[in-house]
Amino acid sequence: MDKKLSLFPVSTKIIDDKLTIGGCDVRTLAEQYGTPLYLYDRADLDSAAGLYRRFLDESWAGRWSVTYAGKAFLCTAIARWALGQGFIIDCTGAGEIGIALKSDLPKEHILVHGVNKSAEDLRAAIKHAGTIVVDNLSELGRLQKLCAELPRANIPELWLRFQPGSSVATHAYTQTGHADSKFGMGREELLEAVRICRQNDLPLVGLHFHQGSQFRDPEPLGDGIDRALDLAKEIGFKDNWHLSPGGGWGVAYHEDDLPQPPIELYVRFVAENIMAGCKKRGLTLPHLHLEPGRSLVAKAGVAVYRVGTVKQTAGKTWLLIDGGMADNPRHALYEAKYSCLTVEKVSGSSTQVVSIAGPYCESGDVLIEQIPLRVVEENELIAIPVSGAYHLSMASNYNGARRPMALMLEDGQAHVIRVRETVEDLTRRDDE
Ligand SMILES: Cc1ncc(COP(=O)(O)O)c(C=O)c1O
Repeated sequence: MDKKLSLFPVSTKIIDDKLTIGGCDVRTLAEQYGTPLYLYDRADLDSAAGLYRRFLDESWAGRWSVTYAGKAFLCTAIARWALGQGFIIDCTGAGEIGIALKSDLPKEHILVHGVNKSAEDLRAAIKHAGTIVVDNLSELGRLQKLCAELPRANIPELWLRFQPGSSVATHAYTQTGHADSKFGMGREELLEAVRICRQNDLPLVGLHFHQGSQFRDPEPLGDGIDRALDLAKEIGFKDNWHLSPGGGWGVAYHEDDLPQPPIELYVRFVAENIMAGCKKRGLTLPHLHLEPGRSLVAKAGVAVYRVGTVKQTAGKTWLLIDGGMADNPRHALYEAKYSCLTVEKVSGSSTQVVSIAGPYCESGDVLIEQIPLRVVEENELIAIPVSGAYHLSMASNYNGARRPMALMLEDGQAHVIRVRETVEDLTRRDDE
């Protein structure tokens, strides 16, 4: 059980054999707010943020920033939390920019990404962002036209997204740096983008690359860093330039993945390799940006579900719960392997192996395949750890699912950060 518990947020305690997070009794929260319910532990969020700050301070000799990748999960409370940590927020397009604005983020805390930014995305980015990361030449052409009449001071700083030709070791669907990836520009294209920026007096100040998400071995970043620094030298970046090797540092989702990949290992690897690479090439140190999403918020989040039906089929015991691929598509998408605990009688010994599935009309609507657990009765609650990233942000209304409520937990208090959708919400956008 200790191994499973270490997947849960830092404030998690077992009191009277019941799960508590942030000083709150999870069963009481489920009774009060219903299920599926997403819980975010403020202490865990702060702890992960603190590790990034600490190891950047310790290992990087120049200026640095952390940019929270909003795609992992963005709502106003999380945006304000990130701002409170001094972080910039990476917004993908006009929608996430809208959330950042609603959260009162100043311009210099908004950075805009996107592989096929629409005119609306670009207009919102030009108006509200401090930085735009340009993905391709076609986008640069559109951006240039939109900026043509603007004074230079009103144009956000531009970085170019480099495609280094190599990815990190992770699921194929979350690799992004390889040569035939849809993201970023290869060397030639990127140098052409530099020429266009210079010719049109656009404020080009940095390079970005991102080799993938949910990796735990930093080694492949070395290759990306080398290629990006070669390019920076060729471009002739001198003072006040920015370099972002993206984000993507992984987390452990299951006890078999433990120990958690240490944030320190990642930060030190990036910092040391960039410092050595700059020295070797005679480059001044850039302003370093790390862009984590998952490793800041995944472990802080726990999904709580109620078991509706316990069902036996040939060779399997199913716990059928009230959420599934509509709030967490990660098993269906990447065969992600999750763990879980019961919310009460937590220490009960595992005497059976169960599979845990949702209520949706897909055989792929499974969250956990074959996990040892104590005997669970219908109406009991289970908690799935490491649910804070890429669940709610990828959630859908499949089969009329109403997207769950999310609470922030701190010092025994629960604060609603996102309300549960209602049946009325499902028809709000429909034609009468
Ligand atoms: C450009 C970019 N930056 C950062 C991230 C964050 O990745 P993660 O949440 O795994 O840290 C992603 C994720 O896909 C990304 O595409």
